[in-house]
Amino acid sequence: MTAAPLFDAAGSLSATPPDLSASDRDQALRELADVCGACRRCSLGSSRLNVVVSRGDPAARLMVIGEGPGAQEDEQGLPFVGRSGQLLDRMLESVGIDSNRDAYICNIVKCRPPENRKPTALEMSACQPWLERQIALVDPAVILLTGATAVEGLLGIKGGITKLRGQWRRGEGGILEGRWLMPIFHPSYLLRNASKERGSPKWLTWHDLQDVQRRLAQLAGSL
Ligand code: URA
Repeated sequence: MTAAPLFDAAGSLSATPPDLSASDRDQALRELADVCGACRRCSLGSSRLNVVVSRGDPAARLMVIGEGPGAQEDEQGLPFVGRSGQLLDRMLESVGIDSNRDAYICNIVKCRPPENRKPTALEMSACQPWLERQIALVDPAVILLTGATAVEGLLGIKGGITKLRGQWRRGEGGILEGRWLMPIFHPSYLLRNASKERGSPKWLTWHDLQDVQRRLAQLAGSL
């Protein structure tokens, strides 16, 4: 069996067939990466060095979504490989999650916003079909949203991450139906707030990640 084409005859994104085999899923993800590589749906497509689609394992039950690529990510074509990505990796590792083996990592926008500015609403919505396709194909049970922009981009909720973090949300309707979503502080914020004292952003994030690890274990039937 071959994977269904990404676009239908009218040029619209086709529905993702349920129960794709691993090889059909991987093929569909490769096809998606090619489409993203040629994407000019917004102006970020003309200033990027590389499109940044994903890293990690598409079979993982955990998806991590960030804001958008920074300079290192733009150079390497991989998400979360700069300083904040290294911190993210270490924090995930501290709760037993290997970012390349146990997670699939991507961003709200796939091209670097100049000067690392926040992506605009237009840029986020231009990139949304690609992210939705990734969610449909990877089919994660748990989604970790790093920072306020990831929450805004995926859930349309604008608000301080201090209030949103650490609270589980259950996806309702559409591509998020039934998925568990956990907002956390963005690692770049944690780089600027290095204290690990009780109640500090880093301490809170470590607890949020422990909660994520527990949820994954529970879903895997091992708790
Ligand atoms: N920050 C993000 O939100 N994503 C990346 O890929 C890198 C830094």
